[in-house]
Amino acid sequence: MTSGQGGTNPGFARGRRLRSTPAMRRWTAQTRLSPADLVLPVFVKEGISEPVPISSMPGVVQHTPESLRKAAAEAAEVGISGLMLFGIPADKDPVGSQADAADGVVNAALQQLRADLGDELVLMADLCLCEYTDHGHCGVVTPAGVVDNDPTLDRYAAVAIAQAQAGAHVIAPSGMMDGQVAAIRAGLDSAAFTETPILAYAAKYASGFYGPFREAAEGAPQFGDRSTYQMDPPNTDEALREVAQDIAEGADAVMVKPAGPYLDIVARVADAVDVPVAAYQVSGEYAMVEAAAANGWIDRERAVLETLTAIRRAGAGSVLTYWAVEAARWLR
Ligand code: PBG
Repeated sequence: MTSGQGGTNPGFARGRRLRSTPAMRRWTAQTRLSPADLVLPVFVKEGISEPVPISSMPGVVQHTPESLRKAAAEAAEVGISGLMLFGIPADKDPVGSQADAADGVVNAALQQLRADLGDELVLMADLCLCEYTDHGHCGVVTPAGVVDNDPTLDRYAAVAIAQAQAGAHVIAPSGMMDGQVAAIRAGLDSAAFTETPILAYAAKYASGFYGPFREAAEGAPQFGDRSTYQMDPPNTDEALREVAQDIAEGADAVMVKPAGPYLDIVARVADAVDVPVAAYQVSGEYAMVEAAAANGWIDRERAVLETLTAIRRAGAGSVLTYWAVEAARWLR
């Protein structure tokens, strides 16, 4: 508390007057954070009998199908909105066959969760091939080792149909191929999934903050990187173009990723569009806070809630975060 500021103008002290108690701050808060704003990304791995901790993401695991069921029940119980599912198959091949195999790890998990929970949570299926291909790229590659856009679109459409058939409520393409939303929409419609929405990872940057995820999803590229098909960090206009393009192709909602280092992009996208905007607080954002908190350098709960509030303040309607369930408990 300071004193002596304000002079003779009664308006000078207004900020301080309105911040004087927790109740006063709650009354005047312009951004609210509640469990319903949060979505939990989860990993389910084939062929393991116990959950496998991810060393670079303390508290996050690769689930067995059984441990995933428990985590999903918990997520429903604390009132978050949904799950984003990633699968790690036992067998990988050049075209990522397990992504659309009906008994593939993620499709089996979707079926089980849908049976367990019905419509209680929004079950979102990440649609990409990098966890399923032996080379770790997000699509099929040419003999020269370049990701081949158009054949990849056919694969994406097949995977979307398989995921919708398995019970996914939302299909979330994250591969960043040109034309992927239109191809997936056409595929879904052709299989009578006209009511299944697409959440497009529309503004997805080639980010250093995905490092821990590549341990979690075991989808690191075996050669090259993703900088030709993900966006370049210095650019803004490109994000707005990608978002406009995805909406024109039929995206029902769009995502910005990563979230924290790209709050300006979240704000501009939220201003520009009239569909729901989600932001993905990615693995590296999680790992940074966890590492600092483990060293006693920051107050963990306070920092976590601050990051989530900031993403909401920038304009995101929902936040994908590995802290979803824990944060939801704090917020109740
Ligand atoms: C690609 C995908 C990635 C993430 C989500 N989907 C990794 C990548 O693009 O290399 C990253 C999420 C995170 O870091 O938490 N399927």
